[in-house]
Amino acid sequence: MSLLLDEEEIDEYSDGSVRLRNPNIELMDQDILYHLALGSGSHDLVEMFGDVKFVCMGGTPKRMEQFANYIMKEIGHKLPAGTTLLDISQYSYRYSMYKVGPVLSISHGMGIPSVGILLHEVIKLMYHAKVRDPVFFRIGTCGGIGYEGGTVVISHEAVDGMLKNYLELSVLGKVTRRPAKLDRQLARDLKALAHRDDPYDTVIGKTMCTNDFYEEQGRLDGAFCDFTEADKMEYLTKMHKAGVVNIEMESLCFAALTHHAGIQSAVVCVTLLDRLKGDQVLAPKEVLDEWQMRPQQLVARYITTYLLRKGRLSLDGHGSMCVKSPRRFKLVQQESENYD
Ligand code: URA
Repeated sequence: MSLLLDEEEIDEYSDGSVRLRNPNIELMDQDILYHLALGSGSHDLVEMFGDVKFVCMGGTPKRMEQFANYIMKEIGHKLPAGTTLLDISQYSYRYSMYKVGPVLSISHGMGIPSVGILLHEVIKLMYHAKVRDPVFFRIGTCGGIGYEGGTVVISHEAVDGMLKNYLELSVLGKVTRRPAKLDRQLARDLKALAHRDDPYDTVIGKTMCTNDFYEEQGRLDGAFCDFTEADKMEYLTKMHKAGVVNIEMESLCFAALTHHAGIQSAVVCVTLLDRLKGDQVLAPKEVLDEWQMRPQQLVARYITTYLLRKGRLSLDGHGSMCVKSPRRFKLVQQESENYD
């Protein structure tokens, strides 16, 4: 039997804190968030994460460390003198997590299983930390369909390779379906933050999420390929006509699990190539690096606009390392190095 849950009920408590649809958790003595190297018994999660508002996720640890440093500058967050950003989940050896004021920046790895495990634990983290009304973003890369490399795509819906708009899980031998819904207003608000003079397009559309980079995305260059170029073009053209503008490997799960938890969420990706023109990612590294900043910039605009409106943009810099004279600072450093 398959069950399609399309609940319109409110999935959070009236104060905005995240509700867990699992009665077992509050009965547990402690909840170990194994893949984050955190636990409700070992850490004061309210103290550590209670002020979080935005959870930003992306594929690689490096990109999310870069995003943490970038958002730190954008929101004017200053670290106390002598401190540096730390990967909170470094001892999990799985995911990386950085906290910059109200922003968490977390790597989710590649594909639905990886992002799914992370989401279970981050949603529980929000619950234990009593975070209210968090907003989740996935900042990623994708293949475009009919869009040049470097185009920013905001997803308004996620579908699988058969155009089904739900995530299918097999639970205890039964199929469970979770609608892969994203917050359409949030998608529109993000689109409104695209600048007219941005040197690239920002579009909204349907995102196809697959379980594989090669065969499921119709690539001719995997280790195996049982179809022709004509078959590939027919499939991608059919998808494009159905409203699909990009392809990646996480949005279905990201949309389904955040929606199930009643959490507002959005997916913003940059295209690495137009799949109607090829399969291999050929752009040089410096170009790819610049493209990958684009979704980060859009999400940063959203976060700074929100914090500005709430009067929470911290531009004072108390407690941070503040160098008044680089020349004297250098002398002091040299003096200190020579001091035995
Ligand atoms: N990520 C994907 O899943 N597919 C692409 O083509 C590029 C990035």
